[in-house]
Amino acid sequence: MDMDKLVSLCKRRGFLFQSSEIYGGLNGFWDYGPLGVELKRNVKESWWRDMVTAHDELATMPGAPEPYEMTGLDCTIIMHPQVWKCSGHYDLFHDFMVDCRESKKRYRHDQVRGRWVEAKGRRVFIATQVGGEEGLAETEQRALKLFNLRGKDVDKLAWQGDLVSLTTVSDFTDVLGPDAKETGSLTPPREFNLMFKTYVGALSGEEGAAFLRPETAQGIFVNFKNVCDSTRVKIPFGIAQMGKSFRNEITPRNFTFRSREFEQMEIEFFCNPKSSPEWYKYWRDRRYRWYLELGLAGDRLRLRDHDQDELSHYSCGTADIEYAFPFLPPGEFGELEGIAHRGDFDLRSHMEGKLVRQGNDLVPELDADGKPRHRGSGKDLSYFDDMTRERYIPHVIEPSAGADRATLAFLCEAYQEDQVPDEKGQPRERVFLRLHPRLAPIKAAVFPLVKRDGMPELAQKIYRDLKQHYNVFYDEKSSIGKRYARQDETGTPFCITVDGDTLTDGTVTIRERDTLKQWRVSADRCVEEIRTLLRGATA
Ligand code: GAP
Repeated sequence: MDMDKLVSLCKRRGFLFQSSEIYGGLNGFWDYGPLGVELKRNVKESWWRDMVTAHDELATMPGAPEPYEMTGLDCTIIMHPQVWKCSGHYDLFHDFMVDCRESKKRYRHDQVRGRWVEAKGRRVFIATQVGGEEGLAETEQRALKLFNLRGKDVDKLAWQGDLVSLTTVSDFTDVLGPDAKETGSLTPPREFNLMFKTYVGALSGEEGAAFLRPETAQGIFVNFKNVCDSTRVKIPFGIAQMGKSFRNEITPRNFTFRSREFEQMEIEFFCNPKSSPEWYKYWRDRRYRWYLELGLAGDRLRLRDHDQDELSHYSCGTADIEYAFPFLPPGEFGELEGIAHRGDFDLRSHMEGKLVRQGNDLVPELDADGKPRHRGSGKDLSYFDDMTRERYIPHVIEPSAGADRATLAFLCEAYQEDQVPDEKGQPRERVFLRLHPRLAPIKAAVFPLVKRDGMPELAQKIYRDLKQHYNVFYDEKSSIGKRYARQDETGTPFCITVDGDTLTDGTVTIRERDTLKQWRVSADRCVEEIRTLLRGATA
């Protein structure tokens, strides 16, 4: 699938716009248009419903060790600055950036790759931001140019190995930056904290400094005690939250995939340390299934367990759910969601202060005077199980998803092209979004075949009846073929047409988006029919 075609459809049909576009846009910020807002709301509502409100607390879910409870929260974006000091974000939530003195461009150190080449007695690292075949082709062209060689002299380039990360290169003197013409223009990597800083109240100095949250998770940890004290939840239980997060990404790119303002859908699941490995496995599989159920294809979706050396120091397991986004080189996948076993790291950090690893233990990090570097709340966040009479600090399993990345993946997966017969039976190119009906922004469109003979009145009645239950659309402008085409591009699963037969036998035509199948039902049964069709699609 050609990503440019999807980007153009998103703009043309009002799914996504660049933020502040009339002022030239702002890199890393995106606005959802009239159709996009419905699609993203449906993604978020499906997540909330499937994970929280429709969760059956009495049953043992397939693969789960026992029944569990789910509840929700909606915390503030700006929180006490100490939250980020204890969580580790203040000290550790950074990327390394590299600047090019020649092109004035900025790169994320770990996203630049390249390969070593020798020619004319010189050895140079040709850097690029692209991977795979494209990266190989680009580095070859740039090497020819740098060494002043022609295409036919390509054999004079002696390549040493494949594309490797710039992080493997310690001295940049012989590095040709991704957009540079001469070597040695890249600066050494510099640390850059990704949290957006702001000031609370009238104090503009460090006293008033605060941060826009880079994840929704911490709001859940700091409210753990409030939730336990104010509800009757018992471990095992999960707290879900969705909302905006902010990261000052060095290189936002790939449409909404890496944005600076985005929405997360996170669950912190609290359990007894003894059963946490089983719960980790349950959540990892449950979350993978959720994407499959909503239409992401098996071969473009994968569940990847992190290698032991990729794991955070406190984690005994992490897996990523990844999707083969079309903007990535073939064979590469992008993260949709991470599922992490976080042990008791988070609750202990907010009790005792920022933790560091010492041997096999996690201990509060101390400053030069032997005092905690970042003091915790001092509140007791342990849990007492009155059935087993045990007290422990719960372990946490964290399925952390991005609403914008999920929305983008659903859009990429849905984009389809085929040929359909037009009104004269001639083949016509068709673009359609094969969105799962639960996610489709509009569930059904209602058309009168022509604007006379009482057809608009009949169609409007059906529209109004359906509107009480679903987001439906009424359209009487242009030819019926054009109206179908517009709804196909919108991803509307069903179209209902009032025609001449409706006036005599009271039936309407229902057309299905993916199969183009058409059948007639009684006009008074439209609500029931659409309900059955949508239910069938959900089952
Ligand atoms: N609490 C854990 C956490 O935040 P993460 O892997 O940094 O983990 C979780 O983020 C999810 O949030 C990612 O899998 C992704 O879907 C989404 N996400 C993270 N950074 C993003 C960005 N810059 N733009 C869009 N989505 C992002």
